[in-house]
Amino acid sequence: MSDQNITELTITRPDDWHLHLRDGVALQAVVGHTARQFARAIIMPNLRPPVTTTEQALAYRQRIEDALRQHDDLPLFTPLMTLYLTDNTSADEIVRAHESGQVYAVKLYPAGATTNSDAGVTDLLGKCGPALQALERCGMPLLVHGEVTDPEIDVFDREAVFIDRVMRPLRQAYPGLKVVFEHITTKDGAEYVRDAEGPIAATITPQHLLYNRNAIFQGGVRPHWYCLPILKREIHRQALLDAATSGNSRFFLGTDSAPHARGLKEHACGCAGCYSALHAMELYATAFERAGRLDRLEGFASFHGAAFYGLPRNTDTLTLRRESYTIPADVPFGDTSLVPLAAGESLDWRAE
Ligand code: NCD
Ligand code: ZN
Repeated sequence: MSDQNITELTITRPDDWHLHLRDGVALQAVVGHTARQFARAIIMPNLRPPVTTTEQALAYRQRIEDALRQHDDLPLFTPLMTLYLTDNTSADEIVRAHESGQVYAVKLYPAGATTNSDAGVTDLLGKCGPALQALERCGMPLLVHGEVTDPEIDVFDREAVFIDRVMRPLRQAYPGLKVVFEHITTKDGAEYVRDAEGPIAATITPQHLLYNRNAIFQGGVRPHWYCLPILKREIHRQALLDAATSGNSRFFLGTDSAPHARGLKEHACGCAGCYSALHAMELYATAFERAGRLDRLEGFASFHGAAFYGLPRNTDTLTLRRESYTIPADVPFGDTSLVPLAAGESLDWRAE
C-alpha cells in the first residue's frame, strides 16, 4: 500500500531521547505537550544553575512529577534524568547517579557551545578522565553536543570539525563508552555514526529532517528556525532523512524541543532553540511520509532508542490519523507565549 492510502497509523508509544523541559512556570507550560505523545523522555540538564549532581537531578525529577500532576488525563510519563558534565564531575558522582536508578545519561556541552552551556567542559580528555572511565564502566551513555566552539571555525562547519577534533579521540580513548551524538545535522555526522565501530548512536530532530538553512532566511530573518546546531544545506537534510528512514537502529528520535519565550526569540540577539513538543510526532510523520517510509517511523520513534539505552519497549500505543492540522500561532508560556516550530503551517497528520 502506498503511504498516501494510509489514513491511520498506530505505533508503540514513542520516546523522546532529547528534551528540554526547563523549570518553574515554563516547565508547567510545556510538560503536558510531551507527556501526551511520549512515554519517556531524556531530560536535558542545562538549567540555570545546571543539574550537576544526582541530588539535583532527583529534586528536578520531583518538580517534573509535581508539574505533571497539575494536568488531568495525561498518560503515564517517565522522565529519564541526566547530569551535566563539568570539568570537575567526579567518578563517585557518576556511580551515585547510576545507582540512583533515575539518572540515565550524562550530557557533554563544550563550554559556550549553546544555550546555558557556560559551565560546560573546557578540555574533555584533559579534565574528564575519571568521569569518562566511570561512565564506561557503568555502561551509562555520554550524550554529546557535537560542535567545536573555536571562533575560527565557521558556524556551519562546527559539527564536522568536532568529529575529527573530539569525537574520534574520545572514542579511541574510551572504546567501550556508549556515546549518543546528539541532534546530528550533517551528512558527515550521519556517515560517521553509520560507519563507526563500537557503541554509538545519534538522535535527529524534526527541524533537521524537514528544513534546510534557507528556512532561517525565507523572506527575512526567521528566528523561530534558529537552533543549535544550526540548520544546514539541503544535501545534509537529505542525508539525515536517509539515515532516519534507513531502518538502522543507530538512529533514533530526539526532538531537542527547546522552549524560549517569544520575546527572547524575536530579539536583536535571539536565543537558539525550536519548540516542537506540541506536535512532534506530526512533524516526524510528515517527514517520514514525504520520504515514502512511514513504515520505518515506529522503529525510529519507539524501538531503537530503548534498545540503545537497554530499556524495555513501551507497551501502550499512539495513533496518528490523516487529518489536516494547522499548527497554532502560539501557545501560553507563563505570562508570555511560545511560538511552536512551523507555526501556522498545515500538516496532514494529527496524533490522538
Ligand atoms: C537548546 C536550549 O535552548 O536549551 N537550544 C538549541 O538550540 N538546541 C540547547 C541545545 O540543545 O543545544
Ligand atoms: Zn538540546
